[in-house]
Amino acid sequence: ASVALWGGRFASGPAEAMAALSASTHFDWRLAPYDIAGSRAHARVLRKADLLTGDELTGMLAALDTLAADVESGAFTPTIADEDVHTALERGLLERAGAELGGKLRAGRSRNDQVATLFRMWLRDAARRVVEGTLGVIDALVAQATRYPDAVLPGRTHLQHAQPVLLAHHLLAHAQALLRDVGRLRDWDARTAESPYGSGALAGSSLGLDPEAVAAELGFATSVENSIDGTASRDFAAEFAFAVAMLGVNLSRVAEEVILWNTAEFGYVTLDDAWATGSSIMPQKKNPDVAELTRGKSGRLIGNLTGLLATLKAQPLAYNRDLQEDKEPVFDSVEQLELLFPALAGMLGTLTFHTGRLAELAPAGFTLATDIAEWLVRQGIPFRGAHEAAGECVRVAEERGAGLDDLTDDELAAIHPALTPEVRTVLTVAGSVASRDARGGTAPARVGEQRDRLVAALEPH
Ligand code: ARG
Repeated sequence: ASVALWGGRFASGPAEAMAALSASTHFDWRLAPYDIAGSRAHARVLRKADLLTGDELTGMLAALDTLAADVESGAFTPTIADEDVHTALERGLLERAGAELGGKLRAGRSRNDQVATLFRMWLRDAARRVVEGTLGVIDALVAQATRYPDAVLPGRTHLQHAQPVLLAHHLLAHAQALLRDVGRLRDWDARTAESPYGSGALAGSSLGLDPEAVAAELGFATSVENSIDGTASRDFAAEFAFAVAMLGVNLSRVAEEVILWNTAEFGYVTLDDAWATGSSIMPQKKNPDVAELTRGKSGRLIGNLTGLLATLKAQPLAYNRDLQEDKEPVFDSVEQLELLFPALAGMLGTLTFHTGRLAELAPAGFTLATDIAEWLVRQGIPFRGAHEAAGECVRVAEERGAGLDDLTDDELAAIHPALTPEVRTVLTVAGSVASRDARGGTAPARVGEQRDRLVAALEPH
């Protein structure tokens, strides 16, 4: 039989379709361990306020322990009549502690402050798992940067050859973005470390209960300032959904490049067999499905964020049942990321880069033209004229199907009197890369330092 939480005022139970619409245990059951932790903390503040005797507290905690064990083992599960995780666990408690004792726990709390607290707890644990997974992907990028410290490739803007850069520099660019995603989740956690427990339905508790004590027991830094805000706000969920959607978007940019690099036209990489798939019809195919699923799931994560924001928009204070729709989008985002992380780290960490081809392509498309212009600037030529002269070098070389370093002394001198044969010292990829040695640049020494700082940031702290 259902133990409705509001029996007194109602002559009949809910219609079947009402119960079916209302039910949330198929997704909120994962909050059960947090709900029980909340109940333990709540029992202790009821004791402190003298609303439970010492013996009653002992009995209550023992019943909650049994309930926790039965939830864990699967001996206790929710039914459709339970509506939500809180109601189901209330029934489980009454069955174990007896109606008399069990019925005392509900004093001074509401499912509204419970769910707002438990959801934060679940998300804070999830944020730690997402951070771990992200660090695993960063680790794979850093490992590849370490494996190929001198490899070069054509850096691109507009997907066109722009300037040569170190492969390590390029890989670490992705790592930097992911490290900011980690930082965002850590900042979010500090903001979310406020417990709504004790807010009651919306107005706070009249029973002399101590919200700060509950907060401390549940791992929060403090309790909320405002009980209405505590029960009605879900910006913590939306902000989390944004942080993981942004992470998904950053992962999709790595993924997209792997997909390009793996084409015959680019020919930059070979995928490890363990992290690629074949085709049922075309025997030669080796597909980058891990990268494609990463790219695809990033869209899903954006959808979860926008759906949640739409749910929250224009809801009047305080709690509305709409808020029950807050959990599935973020649960889903976390679930998708947890599937992605090990596969993406595995795929990235086992890529073989074809450094010979990358080196061959690095100067192609006149990527050293900027180096000519900057060399001229170092000879005292204003950049405007230097840019013009370097552009002319490109035109002359292109006209006769040659590279910039094939231009003759006469051709150079005819383009600009300052273009002496010494300009050839900068017309190598290695020279170009080494010359960009200010902080943040692609020179090997700077990239090495960048890598070391990333490794330090990955150390557990
Ligand atoms: N299951 C609800 C939720 O997830 C919490 C219950 C609050 N229900 C209520 N009628 N006040 O938001």
